[in-house]
Amino acid sequence: MIRVGLVGCGFIGTAHAYVLQKLAEAGLVDAALVATHDADPARAERVARHHGGEAAPSLDELLARVDAVWVCTWTAGHLAVVEAAAARGLAVFCEKPLAPTLAESERVAAALATVPHQVGLVLRWAPVFANAAEIVHSGRYGRPQATVLRDDQYFPIQGRYASSWRKDVALAGGGTLVEHSIHDVDVLRWLLGDPETVSARTASRHGYPGIDDVAAVTLTYPDGGVAQLTSVWHRVLSRESSRRIEIFCEEALLWADDDYLGPLHVQTSDSRHTVEGAPPEWAAELRVPAELASAVAAYATPTKAFLDGLAGGRPGASGHPSAAEALAAHRVVDRAYRSAAAGGAPERCRTAD
Ligand SMILES: NC(=O)c1ccc[n+]([C@@H]2O[C@H](COP(=O)([O-])OP(=O)(O)OC[C@H]3O[C@@H](n4cnc5c(N)ncnc54)[C@H](O)[C@@H]3O)[C@@H](O)[C@H]2O)c1
Repeated sequence: MIRVGLVGCGFIGTAHAYVLQKLAEAGLVDAALVATHDADPARAERVARHHGGEAAPSLDELLARVDAVWVCTWTAGHLAVVEAAAARGLAVFCEKPLAPTLAESERVAAALATVPHQVGLVLRWAPVFANAAEIVHSGRYGRPQATVLRDDQYFPIQGRYASSWRKDVALAGGGTLVEHSIHDVDVLRWLLGDPETVSARTASRHGYPGIDDVAAVTLTYPDGGVAQLTSVWHRVLSRESSRRIEIFCEEALLWADDDYLGPLHVQTSDSRHTVEGAPPEWAAELRVPAELASAVAAYATPTKAFLDGLAGGRPGASGHPSAAEALAAHRVVDRAYRSAAAGGAPERCRTAD
């Protein structure tokens, strides 16, 4: 059995603990949460009480008891935990973003690269984007000419996120572009490859220095294709989080309004159809309330894949996406912020720089 430790027992840490518990209860993974740790001991105790394991009073004590660590602290806490876990050779699941700055993200990625690892860029496992990627990469509707991805979320210092660190640039690294839309930048890289240039404008209406609540990013590609990302943190509490994508290929328009199952709509000159996304069949075995089924499946899929890889015991096995993929997205985000600081001037964007 893989012994899992959870560091950071807030919103997403609790979600991971719940998902792991449900996977284990259904016999879908051979793993269990055995230890929790949080800078706030009451949070570690609460998660252990509800989802398994025991609260560890220190990071070192947690690391001594586990085979794999889920790093779910606020973003500025990832580096120290990842380096400590990697120094012991433990497998690491690290939440996105890797770190607040590109320099620290490089250090997180370097440490992760030494151990089996996976990054929490969960959209990589969403059936709707997998279907879009398959179609785009097949080239059957020609090349993408223009892609529009818009992402809106209520400013996540309230409602069910209830975190205060997301208004502190030292802890979060920035606002909606890095904290939330690193997912979108990663999806665009997956679909379209590395951009050649990036230009961006950002704004901070809510008044927290360094925390962009609007980002409008234009990415250009070597074949002349263009993508535009609009990312907004607003105050419409009835709109929790929503993504819409349109991909204009030469011979078809693809679009989706739902960032997990879709469906993906496809319109060509002579047909219009949908490609339905479906959760994996095993997700039906998870005993969870119906209203949580979709969200649980979205996180259970990458969790199970990572644990299955670890159980397979492949030396150096890495989960998906890897630290290298995450770091490439960070490089694009870093260029976007540099462009915004320069009034929107295009930045060259070779991700290997
Ligand atoms: N992949 C996703 O879908 C997703 C969703 C939400 C959050 N996240 C990411 O997960 C991370 C946590 O976000 P959250 O919403 O759970 O925040 P949160 O504020 O709810 O929880 C963070 C927890 O980390 C603890 N913490 C901070 N530093 C620590 C340290 N050094 N050691 C131990 N505990 C520490 C805090 O006390 C807090 O309980 C962030 O990096 C965020 O970007 C990812």
